[in-house]
Amino acid sequence: MSDFITRKKRTHYCGALRVADAGKTVILMGWVQRRRDHGGVIFVDLRDREGLVQIVFNPEMSPVPHQEAHKIRSEYVLAVQGKVRKRPEGMENPDLPNGDIEVMIDELEILNEAKTPPFVLDTGEDISENVRLKYRYLDLRRPEIQNKIILRSRAAAATREYFQKQGFIEVETPFLTKSTPEGARDYLVPSRVNQGMFYALPQSPQIFKQLLMVSGFDRYYQIVKCFRDEDLRADRQPEFTQIDLEMSFLDENDIIEIMEGFMVHLFKSCLGVSLKTPFPRIAYQDAVNRYGKDNPDTRFSLELRDLTDILKNADFNLFQEVIASSGVIKAIKIEDGKRLSRKDLDSLRDYVATYGAKGLAWARLHPEGWTSPIFKFLKPDEVNRINQKMEAREGDLIVFVADKPGIVHDSLGNLRVHVAKLLNLIDPAVFSFTWVTAFPLLEYSDTEKRFVSTHHPFTSPVMEDIPFLETDPGRVRARAYDLVLNGSEVGGGSIRIHSEQVQAKIFKTLGLEQEEARAKFGFLLDALEYGTPPHGGIAFGFDRLIMLMTGSDSIRDVIAFPKTQKATCLLTDAPSKVSIEQLMELSLKIVQ
Ligand code: AMO
Ligand code: AMP
Repeated sequence: MSDFITRKKRTHYCGALRVADAGKTVILMGWVQRRRDHGGVIFVDLRDREGLVQIVFNPEMSPVPHQEAHKIRSEYVLAVQGKVRKRPEGMENPDLPNGDIEVMIDELEILNEAKTPPFVLDTGEDISENVRLKYRYLDLRRPEIQNKIILRSRAAAATREYFQKQGFIEVETPFLTKSTPEGARDYLVPSRVNQGMFYALPQSPQIFKQLLMVSGFDRYYQIVKCFRDEDLRADRQPEFTQIDLEMSFLDENDIIEIMEGFMVHLFKSCLGVSLKTPFPRIAYQDAVNRYGKDNPDTRFSLELRDLTDILKNADFNLFQEVIASSGVIKAIKIEDGKRLSRKDLDSLRDYVATYGAKGLAWARLHPEGWTSPIFKFLKPDEVNRINQKMEAREGDLIVFVADKPGIVHDSLGNLRVHVAKLLNLIDPAVFSFTWVTAFPLLEYSDTEKRFVSTHHPFTSPVMEDIPFLETDPGRVRARAYDLVLNGSEVGGGSIRIHSEQVQAKIFKTLGLEQEEARAKFGFLLDALEYGTPPHGGIAFGFDRLIMLMTGSDSIRDVIAFPKTQKATCLLTDAPSKVSIEQLMELSLKIVQ
């Protein structure tokens, strides 16, 4: 055992050294990225979290014994002391920010050895994600991933900085709690002390943050883990992080303004990007009509246009049938449509089929007129009106789907994104924000045969719509807003109900009997009777924001220890079986 670390302290991070440091004696600690042996002179790329620097063991100039330097292998942990110098002419590496310098080593201690890693860390080589997740601690050594986690930390700091300055108070809320409805299944935790009873991990701190408003904290925030047992996707994890906020005595415009200020601060301080505010707002129904979704990607056009009215008398059976069964016909215009061949169109048809569309009609506008398998069924007047509606110009390609509104919106809404990617219409440097407002408060669930909350049951209806709660619940609008960035929902919130009577009415509309509502949320109903201020809030998906800020494809890339699509952790092997003793302590039995 040597005592390098006790005797000497690190003076610099490897990656932070620059040509201005030439001449300095420095002490570095780090991992061996690569070792090259050039006839006695050994070159090592030494890596730490700030980057790499080349260190050199030259047996003619260095007191380090050659056998010692010769032992060095990839991922060994070294402590070294040496002198920074400019590299000899012609030896510079333009790929490194400090590729014009190297450190001539005169003291080395191998702090630890390393087994050969299961994958090469220094190349962009495709490594299977399962292997990366099993050895996540090695994967996290790769600068590409490490930098994302570091940016995440900076974003958390910028978040605290902004909200502290705005007078928000950080409060922690419990994890072992009671179910909070956010539309997913709960993760349950059995209680040993209270046998047969379960806690639920919070799907969000929703009820607690509302109670904090009742208590008078006025402005609350928390960067907090939330737990949802739902089907996973690239942008969903069973445990994820929210930036959670609640405020009193404000309306939705005030809240939106504070949150736009937050985005401006976050993007400026973490990415140096200046965002323009106010962000555009679009009503839910318009978003669905124009983009086919309530999380529209507004970086490109390709908007849906409604041709139902124009085609309602068209001499084409398919359209007649669709319209007769309350369907719609919508279309997207693709400029310079020759970029898509017949074969491409076939694959687009297969693509929309995955969203339930039975076909994809198309038409191309050539100098001599339209070519299309279906325009022959249309009257000249119908074609003219399509030209106008689509603002069609020579070279344009139009694709359309006729079906039930849900299928048309789903298929064309996804197709526009698919085509934009295919034709490279998306500028990866653009951050395009949109607020989506005027959501319906309730939606009818065919499976549950009742109305369910679109957001959660604490969202305030628009006051003038309250009478419809009894007569036409589907028509009631919510005082809710989502923030969408590049087609991802990055946040959602609402003004809350602060009247116990209105809250009770909503529970009734949702089919919650009074007794059941009391059993689930009695404490909230009670609290609402003790002087609740008007209040509202929002929660941002922190992982999703970081995913978009770092240009990652999946939120797994910006979470240090993520779960797989199957909600497992390949590193720790969670979830796993437990012993009979543990189960007995909880008076649980596995029934299979
Ligand atoms: P909501 O359910 O819309 O609202 O959640 C807020 C934001 O959290 C992110 N998010 C997720 N991110 C990763 N994995 C998941 N499984 C996941 N689920 C949600 C999304 C989403 O916009 N209590 C309310 C907020 C409020 O009303 O103030 C809530 O939780 O980016
Ligand atoms: P068919 O009569 O099935 O050969 O269809 C004629 C054209 O209409 C083909 O280009 C189909 O892809 C298209 N088509 C079929 N069903 C639909 C639909 N529901 N919406 C739009 N186009 C369709």
